[in-house]
Amino acid sequence: MEMEMEKIQRLESIGVLAGGIAHEYNNILTAILGNISIAKIYIQPTDNIFEFLTEAEKASVRAKDLTMRLITFSTGGAPMRKTAPLSGLIRASASSILTGSNVICECSIQDGLWPAEVDETQITQALNKLIINAVQAMPGGVAIWLEAENVVIEKEELPISMPSGRYIRITVKDQGTGIPKKNIGRIFDPFFTTKNMGNGLGLAITYSIIKRHSGYISVESEQGKGTTFTIYLPASRETPMSLCFTMGDENHLSVSSVIN
Ligand SMILES: Nc1ncnc2c1ncn2[C@@H]1O[C@H](COP(=O)(O)OP(=O)(O)OP(=O)(O)O)[C@@H](O)[C@H]1O
Ligand SMILES: [Mg+2]
Repeated sequence: MEMEMEKIQRLESIGVLAGGIAHEYNNILTAILGNISIAKIYIQPTDNIFEFLTEAEKASVRAKDLTMRLITFSTGGAPMRKTAPLSGLIRASASSILTGSNVICECSIQDGLWPAEVDETQITQALNKLIINAVQAMPGGVAIWLEAENVVIEKEELPISMPSGRYIRITVKDQGTGIPKKNIGRIFDPFFTTKNMGNGLGLAITYSIIKRHSGYISVESEQGKGTTFTIYLPASRETPMSLCFTMGDENHLSVSSVIN
């Protein structure tokens, strides 16, 4: 419990700091980008300097993208929630990432999955980041397992931050490299990465999105065997208002079983 409290507080403090810096940076970058664009108006594309300004512009756009991701992690805007069924959203997320890759998705979604009050864009983003990590952990391909089911959680089974009640439990499981013990306490920290081209923001963003939805995310991993991320989202008491999501390419998903 102490470790869990410590993790929550650490991520909150980093969030405040990162959000503050990101906002300042964003304002400065807006000024830099604006001035580069104006400077380009006064020269010809054939001028030597045009190419340098274009490169500076591209780098500033990349920096702006990074600061926007930091802002998503820190404040991210309150979720625009509506009651929605999650099954389509989960399938669409898997198919959008896995189409064209050498990884297949074994998708097992309970019939009559409870709806939840979610910001569909944010939850899709959170799932996407987990699926991308799973794919990246398996350079040789194979499969990932996506499961979603209804669970009722009692007080004694709970992590400290969650009230008892009805939840939708979503798991994303891979048989990839796994996460070494020494890293597991740090993977949700922003900028923690073991990848050459990684930013270390995927899980920090996922964590903050799930937290903003009053949910919970945990991880289990064994080096060389694989990793399982588990998300709990509070079930809604309302019935869904609409079914506005895309079903994606169902051909790419194989429903291995239906849990009742
Ligand atoms: N499924 C997984 N299997 C093995 N390691 C993982 C998995 N998911 C996350 N990790 C570890 O956690 C680290 C942090 O993940 P995170 O998604 O935050 O950042 P990243 O993937 O390195 O970069 P980014 O997501 O910003 O492109 C990864 O660098 C990797 O070491
Ligand atoms: Mg990632």
